[in-house]
Amino acid sequence: MLHLDLINTLKDLFGRFDHVRPCKFILIQADSVRLMTQLLQIAHARGVFVSGSFIPTNEAKQLSTAPHFDAPSTPVLARFSLFTGIPDLPSNTPQATPHGFAVRFLIGEDTKTDIICQSSIFFPGATGEEVLAVFRSFKDNTAEEYAKDHPAAASFIHEDRQVPKNFGTESFYSINAFKFVNASGESAVIRYRWIPLSGKHYLTQSELEAKGPNFLFDELPGVFAQGPISFKLVAQVAGDGDVTNDCTKIWPEDRKLVELGTLTLNKVVGEEELPPQKETIVYNVFPGVQGVEPSDDPIIAARAQVYQTSGQTRRDAKV
Ligand code: HEM
Repeated sequence: MLHLDLINTLKDLFGRFDHVRPCKFILIQADSVRLMTQLLQIAHARGVFVSGSFIPTNEAKQLSTAPHFDAPSTPVLARFSLFTGIPDLPSNTPQATPHGFAVRFLIGEDTKTDIICQSSIFFPGATGEEVLAVFRSFKDNTAEEYAKDHPAAASFIHEDRQVPKNFGTESFYSINAFKFVNASGESAVIRYRWIPLSGKHYLTQSELEAKGPNFLFDELPGVFAQGPISFKLVAQVAGDGDVTNDCTKIWPEDRKLVELGTLTLNKVVGEEELPPQKETIVYNVFPGVQGVEPSDDPIIAARAQVYQTSGQTRRDAKV
């Protein structure tokens, strides 16, 4: 089955750490002489939980009846992560990018919805099968060959990524498209973006070299001590003819951008504040609330099964 093949191929590549998130990505690093493959990542195993709240704009309500766009304020539990299945991957390296940002809106006792993003606009495949083919090309050491005939994989693999000053100085993108439905029953297909209110700031090579291997995590409490980390949530609205069922097709930058609200994160959430392992948090790509639906993007269904199975494995693992 596809979702098991995806998970098992990742684990074949990077080792079996059943108690952590075995996500996906693989980065190929370019050097000046030739493009060489360096298989480094597969999961968002390394991460940190943070908490805060979300305040919507009036424009958000015009687009969707979702409860977190209606309530004056909604608490959130979010997680920043490195793209790797290797639990101790250092954060002072571009190989740990694109970073992940998963945000859970805690709407009510039994109601929640998540937005799961990454810090790149590129994704290597349009379907679960294509993503599996990318994983397998890494396993077989044929990723460079694969990338030659697969432009989306090439863009993702060869992107020149920078490391941010902290998790609050980079943007994050949902890649997949979702359908908003408003009170009049009108719908719009959108992709989410989190835009840092402090602007995007990246480290120079010398600044990066001066950083310790855990700096993104070690420095986060100090960042919060100076003030909250805030992001604008923005919907990029698909225009006529924009492809919604292929997340590798990037929509033009002149598409309408609607500001949906502001997220303010105040603190790192300690281990002791999180649920025990058997109930550990598993983010869900299916919105599960009124006013937001999956689009026709096939990656959403593939991800949903993969995350559910992967999350259950983590909950059941013996550490
Ligand atoms: C077919 C495509 C994909 C596969 C096979 C895949 C696989 C996975 C797996 C196995 C996990 C760990 C889940 C868990 O144990 O809770 C994960 C987590 C994650 N994925 Fe993906 N993923 C895919 C697409 C994407 C996309 C398009 C994005 C970004 C837009 C993304 C961002 C993330 C993030 C941020 C996490 C960490 C969530 C957390 O902090 O718990 N993934 N992915």
